[in-house]
Amino acid sequence: MEKKNIDWANLGFGYRVTDVRYVSNYRNDAWDEGVLTGDATIQLNECAGILQYCQEIFEGLKAYTTEDGRIVTFRPDLNAERMADSARRLEMPPFPKERFLDAIDKVVTANAAWVPPYGSGATLYIRPYMFASSPVIGVKPAEEYQFRVFVTPVGPYFKGGAKPLTLCVSDFDRAAPHGTGHIKAGLNYAMSLHAGVTAHANGFDENLFLDPATRTYVEETGGANFLFVDKNGTIITPKSESILPSITRRSLVTVARDILGLEVQERPVKLEELKDFAECGLCGTAAVISPVGKVVDHGRDICFASGMEEMGPVIKKLYDTLTGIQMGRVDGPEGWVRTIL
Ligand code: PLP
Ligand code: COI
Repeated sequence: MEKKNIDWANLGFGYRVTDVRYVSNYRNDAWDEGVLTGDATIQLNECAGILQYCQEIFEGLKAYTTEDGRIVTFRPDLNAERMADSARRLEMPPFPKERFLDAIDKVVTANAAWVPPYGSGATLYIRPYMFASSPVIGVKPAEEYQFRVFVTPVGPYFKGGAKPLTLCVSDFDRAAPHGTGHIKAGLNYAMSLHAGVTAHANGFDENLFLDPATRTYVEETGGANFLFVDKNGTIITPKSESILPSITRRSLVTVARDILGLEVQERPVKLEELKDFAECGLCGTAAVISPVGKVVDHGRDICFASGMEEMGPVIKKLYDTLTGIQMGRVDGPEGWVRTIL
């Protein structure tokens, strides 16, 4: 199979239409069998639930080309489970796990020419999503839904690759106590857009959101969880009911404990503790592990010992091990890598 003629090394994190996507419709209380289609457009009734009351959820994962030339995904079963959790929270019908995995395999296989080559620095981003497709005008769940999966080749999420980021402590919240911060629903991202645009306009790369109840604990950014390293080399990652349970973060906790033999603490982390930490990283499918050099809290600089030039040594070790597993250079725990082709 001939790859597309793309300058893989210079891809940003953007959308590019690819050849094939998957569509399945939910009607009369059942999912239809689903099809692959070349049509990238969607036609909807003007009163569709997604357009009126934002009933939409999504996932994000990647396909990688391994060192030995296979095309694989990383722990897609956890994306299937998280999407089912998101669906239940928004009163939507979960898409069955086996069908979710099969849909991803099919879309990646059909778009194999778009999967960036090994060593190119790019990957194939996979976006499963589901939305309310039938009309609703009274506030209630819709009766019909559409589940889709498309793919798009991507480069690094943050411009500048491995250069440490500068974050600001946001005056806005991304989640409410007992709200929807722990699921992957488009509505969480809509409400973080203004905070994101404001942070960028003020010269910051991203926001650090605080816990919405007390505004004293660290939560996450608009699209990634935090990992900190303290001065003893212990990994510390915030625990909260209102952050997204990142699959990358959960995997890194296992990598740190079981492969690298590091101590890991998953616990609430006070903003006030950050000044004592040596390293900080943002972890997620899109972010992978992006180093953070500095957090600015209303004019006060909180600088990590790792500095503004490069990734800290512990974050780098985590990064190398995780990407090594994803690209087939390092053996990971059983079942983490799913070979598609
Ligand atoms: N937190 C938020 C708000 C996200 O959007 C994402 C991205 O998916 C993450 C964390 C990281 O999650 P994962 O590692 O599963 O991609
Ligand atoms: C992902 O990492 O997959 C996400 O969905 C984050 C998003 C901000 C691109």
